[in-house]
Amino acid sequence: MRWIQAAVVVMSVAAWAGPADKGKPADAKPADAKAAGAKPAAGKLDGAKLYLEKTCVACHGKDAKTPIMPDYPKLAGQSAPYAVKQMKDIKSGARANGNAAAMKGIMHLVTDEEVEALAEYLAGLK
Ligand code: HEC
Repeated sequence: MRWIQAAVVVMSVAAWAGPADKGKPADAKPADAKAAGAKPAAGKLDGAKLYLEKTCVACHGKDAKTPIMPDYPKLAGQSAPYAVKQMKDIKSGARANGNAAAMKGIMHLVTDEEVEALAEYLAGLK
């Protein structure tokens, strides 16, 4: 079930038609509002929202610790500076080991600021 939902999101990324992608991801909302925990400070990007919008959820799971593949990493509770570095390295291609190629494809949709908001969100998850 989760896998199918994830696959749908991944496919929608492959055929990326724009940032709106309205219509379906309403299903992902409730659990994530809860997982978000802390509210982002005013003016800051919302990491929890980005995690859904940028389709991270498709591969890494709603709680960021139930990845769709056993050899994909759990992210919840990861230190923010480390996560930032890994995301930037995957984006730039500096990190191209293991399954990094799977993720690289979406990173052109994620800015450095968004990477930081995402890392903070992930670090705050239990
Ligand atoms: C298509 C699947 C996919 C998507 C979408 C995806 N990732 Fe990943 N991500 C991976 C895989 C696979 C790895 C591990 C790469 C490797 O094997 O080296 C990874 C690695 C990471 C890491 C480093 C983990 C570590 O312990 O080193 C972070 C942080 C991360 N992803 C965050 C994100 C965020 C945030 C998003 C959304 C912007 C995202 N990922 C989207 C598949 C994905």
